[in-house]
Amino acid sequence: MKRTKIKELLYTAAASQLVVVQGWVRTFRNGQFISINDGSCLENIQAVIELNSLDEATLKRITTGSCVSITGELIPSPAKGQTVELKVEQVEILGDCDPEKYPLQPKKHSLEFLREIAHLRSRTSTFGAVMRVRHAMAFAVHKFFNDRGFVYVHTPVITGSDAEGAGEMFRVTNLHAKNPPLDEHGNVNFKEDFFGRETNLTVSGQLEGETYALALSEIYTFGPTFRAENSNTTRHLAEFWMIEPEMAFYDIHDNMKLATDLLQFLVKYALENCQQDLEFLHKRAQEEDAAKPQDKRNELGLLERLKFVTENEFQKLSYTEAIDILRNSTPNKKKKFHYLIDQWGDDLQSEHERFLVEKHFKKPVILYNYPKEIKSFYMRQNEDGKTVAAMDVLFPGIGEIIGGSQREERYDNLIARIKELNLPEKDLWWYIELRKFGSAPHSGFGLGFERLILFVTGMTNIRDVIPFPRYPGNAEF
Ligand code: 4AD
Ligand code: MG
Repeated sequence: MKRTKIKELLYTAAASQLVVVQGWVRTFRNGQFISINDGSCLENIQAVIELNSLDEATLKRITTGSCVSITGELIPSPAKGQTVELKVEQVEILGDCDPEKYPLQPKKHSLEFLREIAHLRSRTSTFGAVMRVRHAMAFAVHKFFNDRGFVYVHTPVITGSDAEGAGEMFRVTNLHAKNPPLDEHGNVNFKEDFFGRETNLTVSGQLEGETYALALSEIYTFGPTFRAENSNTTRHLAEFWMIEPEMAFYDIHDNMKLATDLLQFLVKYALENCQQDLEFLHKRAQEEDAAKPQDKRNELGLLERLKFVTENEFQKLSYTEAIDILRNSTPNKKKKFHYLIDQWGDDLQSEHERFLVEKHFKKPVILYNYPKEIKSFYMRQNEDGKTVAAMDVLFPGIGEIIGGSQREERYDNLIARIKELNLPEKDLWWYIELRKFGSAPHSGFGLGFERLILFVTGMTNIRDVIPFPRYPGNAEF
């Protein structure tokens, strides 16, 4: 007989039909009640063994963590909180699990501990819920763009350019670490490297994405990106996934509109399609919140926060207006900010972004027109000579969730900025050429996928919303 997924069984009307369930034992009580989970949904199914119907040896092997295949009758359940259960006819142990040695006991474990056993944390309710939501969000991203006629472009993971010009890259090489070939000046000779040049893991697919936007009009990338920034925070990973749409004939305002539509669509999709997992995560976050001091707690619960985003306009605000608000804010005057804001041109830290979103406006904020000095070389220069058409979308609890801009499509302006910043013009030759051959106004942005998942799941550490997090000092698994 073929197995049926638990998700399907729980919504099947029980009519004493014989079914097969396969999954992992969560708990086994009183030598009678087995709770089984197969990850198809949050819920377990209960299988009930009639007394004296199984031999002792088999009963002993039904332990938390073991993998079982159970054949039984699906019957209406007399127990509270479940509509059906299995009346066991046969139990086959597919994989034993020594309860003395199994690290996942049927009790609450800390997220820190679970990070150390990332190969097993997938078996917990929390990680099951988070990863099902993550999957739904990946699917919804493709749905959103596909429905609008965007083309999914696979940009390279290994590249020769530094898209952000920030130099936070992981080198890719097959040269011998101890004994690399040297040139006549005694420097490492990368001409002898695999690609005949220096290469690194991509920090963003944007620059390559632009080449396809200037041909197919509307494209997006969705892939892993890598940053060797030493940020040991709850919002940074060294390897994260990014969604980067790039659109010809969009100005900065069209760009903001698309970003808003995308975020609202994704959150709405989660609310409509991940109800059970979100309700579980909502309760989980509530319990976590209750353990925090009053002033660190969320004003709204997870589900309220999600609905809030789908129902409210995002607040648009220029950088200049934001600086005025921040300079005159109470935490700035009382020197409560870690970094005080004292003049136009100061870069915004996460504490400032969160103040604007969570305390001042109490809704998502889109900041735009930033000083050119604190933004990337490719952003379109505004008429004032001081700012660029950049935009960041700021979310409650997260800070920056999206960064983007209108691109500098004017050849002379782009070259001037590259020279000003001393960037390697020779590596960017092809990017510059796009401005020579049929240039067009265009815009795009990057949505950090894990930051999105943090927001939607209400988890508080980015290391808990990706299966195997990569961060300074950690690449286990
Ligand atoms: O603001 P960023 O650096 O922008 C870019 O990379 C542009 N090339 C995007 C574009 O215009 N196509 O990164 C975009 C987003 C951030 O807003 C944040 O959500 C996420 O990527 N992000 C990170 N997420 C996790 N860990 C990190 N270290 C991240 N760095 C950026
Ligand atoms: Mg940014």
